[in-house]
Amino acid sequence: MKVTPTVFVALLCVHQLVLGQVLTMSACATNCTVQLTSRFTSCSGIQCFCDDHKLAQLGFDCFEENCTVREALVGRNITSLTCQFPNRDRGAVSSAVTFTSLAIALGFVITRAIVFGISKIWGWDDIATGLATIVMIGNAVCNPISRRFGYGKDIWRIPFSDTNEVLKVFFIGGVFYTIGVALIKIAFLCFYLKLFPSRAFRKVAYPLLGICFVYGIVFTFLFIFQCSPVSYTWMQWDGEADGKCLNFDLGAVIHAIINIFVTLVSILRLYSMVQLDGSMNQTWDFIPFGYFTDLEFNVGIACICMPSIRVVLRRYFPNCGLATTEGSSMIGPSNQQAPRLVKISGKNLSRSTNHRATADTSSDRVELYPYNRAQEVT
Ligand SMILES: *[C@@H]1O[C@H](CO)[C@@H](O)[C@H](O)[C@H]1NC(C)=O
Ligand SMILES: *[C@@H]1O[C@H](CO)[C@@H](O)[C@H](O)[C@H]1NC(C)=O
Ligand SMILES: *[C@@H]1O[C@H](CO)[C@@H](O)[C@H](O)[C@H]1NC(C)=O
Ligand SMILES: *[C@@H]1O[C@H](CO)[C@@H](O)[C@H](O)[C@H]1NC(C)=O
Ligand SMILES: *[C@@H]1O[C@H](CO)[C@@H](O)[C@H](O)[C@H]1NC(C)=O
Repeated sequence: MKVTPTVFVALLCVHQLVLGQVLTMSACATNCTVQLTSRFTSCSGIQCFCDDHKLAQLGFDCFEENCTVREALVGRNITSLTCQFPNRDRGAVSSAVTFTSLAIALGFVITRAIVFGISKIWGWDDIATGLATIVMIGNAVCNPISRRFGYGKDIWRIPFSDTNEVLKVFFIGGVFYTIGVALIKIAFLCFYLKLFPSRAFRKVAYPLLGICFVYGIVFTFLFIFQCSPVSYTWMQWDGEADGKCLNFDLGAVIHAIINIFVTLVSILRLYSMVQLDGSMNQTWDFIPFGYFTDLEFNVGIACICMPSIRVVLRRYFPNCGLATTEGSSMIGPSNQQAPRLVKISGKNLSRSTNHRATADTSSDRVELYPYNRAQEVT
């Protein structure tokens, strides 16, 4: 087919009337369509893209390479609307992950509050955990808000202003996340300090506490002020706003590398973040990054509350095996289990656990029990 000016003008008039708002194919996207369809098919117009997904992908690549970001997105949107391509949305997955892990973490926090509230041994770890919980809820609330603007859908399917909103809410969630991760580390250290009052431990823990504190503040500020002006953080996607940014990827990678020492989930988060590099499709591609972030956050909160769960188990489910404890009243010949022989490199070792599982309501103290001490048989 020869590309006549008439065909070009006809194609330029392709637009979609959506809710009273007209989307018009840009000249540049029209140029791509005309060139590709005349090169590869005998038909003309956007309709040619509907049945030939390879050709459609060539068209989208041409939009992306030769047009502005906004023109490319509108071109792709019109094509998707014309061809009735499915309007995908995987926001539900992210909400499921965020809210399930939030519910579990909140369960842990409430248990902890009840258990330690009764025994009235409040400390800095509880304050840090409480603050982290508030921040965690703030972070989770960002999920349904951003989904209302189209988080989880393809970026070309949502209005430009909504893309800005999604990225803005994502940014706010990121601030919560950065603060929360630091608070969880501080909560852990404060908790360990309560648990191990030894001087040697304190010598290590207090400097670490200082580092976590400074690190939390520094990364929060780095995150907030990564771009100048701050709004450029969520405006830069279309390449039409003016501003400058720090290399966020580098900052985020450093942040995650530090975090890797703390949680495995951070590794998954880092992985999903590396996949994001240079994404053109933020509202869709951010989903795994988003839910690994929330998962890491909630797993951290749940972990810090773990010891209180043990107190509950010991009190109400003394025989479940996790709940046993050592106490002077519990060592007696009548309850001693027969030592179990374990063969290790030719030597006979006897392994015994000289304790009995009983419901223990006398104390909700959290203590460590030297489990599986091996004694050499002589
Ligand atoms: C369309 O493509 C031709 C050939 O590459 C180019 O000369 C022309 O400027 C393009 N028109 C528009 C509106 O982009
Ligand atoms: C961009 O436009 C030029 C000329 O219009 C064309 O040759 C090229 O194939 C286009 N890019 C893509 C990815 O199609
Ligand atoms: C895509 O089309 C939808 C209508 O289905 C419209 O609301 C949205 O603003 C359009 N987005 C872009 C980027 O053109
Ligand atoms: C957006 O994500 C989808 C799904 O992974 C992918 O097929 C598409 O190529 C992406 N689009 C852009 C513009 O990167
Ligand atoms: C280890 O125990 C087995 C069986 O109780 C016994 O026959 C063997 O002699 C013991 N070995 C040593 C090195 O004590």
